[in-house]
Amino acid sequence: MLNIVIFGAPGSGKGTQSDNLIREYGLYHISTGEVLRDHISRATKLGVIADRYISKGNLIPDDLMVSVLEDVLDSNPEKTARGVIFDGFPRTIDQAVALNDMLARRGTLLHAVIGLEVDEDQLMNRMLLRGKETGRADDNPVTIKQRLEVYHRQTCPLRDYYIAEGKYLPINGNNSIDAIFEDIKKALAPIVSK
Ligand code: AP5
Ligand code: MG
Repeated sequence: MLNIVIFGAPGSGKGTQSDNLIREYGLYHISTGEVLRDHISRATKLGVIADRYISKGNLIPDDLMVSVLEDVLDSNPEKTARGVIFDGFPRTIDQAVALNDMLARRGTLLHAVIGLEVDEDQLMNRMLLRGKETGRADDNPVTIKQRLEVYHRQTCPLRDYYIAEGKYLPINGNNSIDAIFEDIKKALAPIVSK
């Protein structure tokens, strides 16, 4: 079993590299952003609440986000058997502590955190391009600026948290998609072979 967090700023390639990780290791992918966008598109109660935060580029409150993640984990016991890629979760220290607890209660643990490190101008260009191509609602200049600010203030401290836990694997995320994935596989090799 392999449980991985894919960590990085908005637009750093978490979703893109998750697709590669699913193919390579047969892991189950949980993107909290995708879960929330699905609720927004169906106008569920959670979707209506989540939209208030996402549209402004702010984080959904921790207690709500943790309960959403627990629900996803509990509704997919077979699919998560080989392990999970957590994409976009945790985003705060409190969420990281909750994730450790959640995994421990299920008799497992977090094995590694892949940190995609990308220059700020590249992040901005990627999200503006995607906004034009796909119309993703939070990919507009004002919301992107806020997402990046929130990332630096609330999420970046997790990098040191996971370095201290000995789980952080830094990856240069400025390269091509294929080159980045080669680096991820190399970084994971010692963990996968255990
Ligand atoms: P979320 O959906 O997680 O968005 P995000 O973190 O802002 O990240 P993105 O999905 O925009 O980028 P990504 O890193 O997945 O990159 P991608 O592969 O798409 O969260 C959205 C919102 O939901 C949050 O703002 C918050 O409100 C809420 N939320 C979610 N989780 C939460 C939580 N845990 N707690 C509280 N609130 C939460 O790539 C980006 C683009 O670049 C793509 O177009 C891609 O094709 C391109 N690209 C990728 N790699 C490369 C490359 N190497 N070279 C060139 N282009 C590339
Ligand atoms: Mg994503």
